[in-house]
Amino acid sequence: MSELKIVLYPDPVLLTIGKPVGEEEFNADLEKTVADMFETMHSAHGVGLAAPQVGISKRFFVMDIADEEGRPNPLAFFNPEIIGVEGEQTGDEGCLSFPGLYQQVRRDMRVIVRAQDVKGDRFEMDVTELSARCVLHETDHCDGIVFLDRMSPLKRQLAKRKIKRLQNTGKWE
Ligand code: NI
Repeated sequence: MSELKIVLYPDPVLLTIGKPVGEEEFNADLEKTVADMFETMHSAHGVGLAAPQVGISKRFFVMDIADEEGRPNPLAFFNPEIIGVEGEQTGDEGCLSFPGLYQQVRRDMRVIVRAQDVKGDRFEMDVTELSARCVLHETDHCDGIVFLDRMSPLKRQLAKRKIKRLQNTGKWE
């Protein structure tokens, strides 16, 4: 059983820039943390989860977006860097650290990300649509940026009001 707990906005760890994962940190402990993060993410029905969201102020995240045949595709990204973007998409976005909040966010349609895998090996990946949205959202988490920061001022105001309402009614948990 995973012992990780998802932290909610406005926990300061969500607003802090994560530390890079050092070469010496790619070991069995890290693999265990990643397995726990997948478990935590799947039980919360999310498609992406970044280390700061489980209280670890480091630059990595996991993602699992099923392919067209519905097969799972679990991926982990360490020290992610966005090296190219193209196009635009607007759509509803959610975040496990903002339970019950969904809001339109504009994102790049296509993203090229460079990262390391759980063994520390470097790779590049070219992703589009939901996967691009997720990579951008989770890389933002590594930079202490939450999706609230990516909304238009009007949408952000509406979102903040909704968060307050959810907090006041005990639904922010
Ligand atoms: Ni998130």
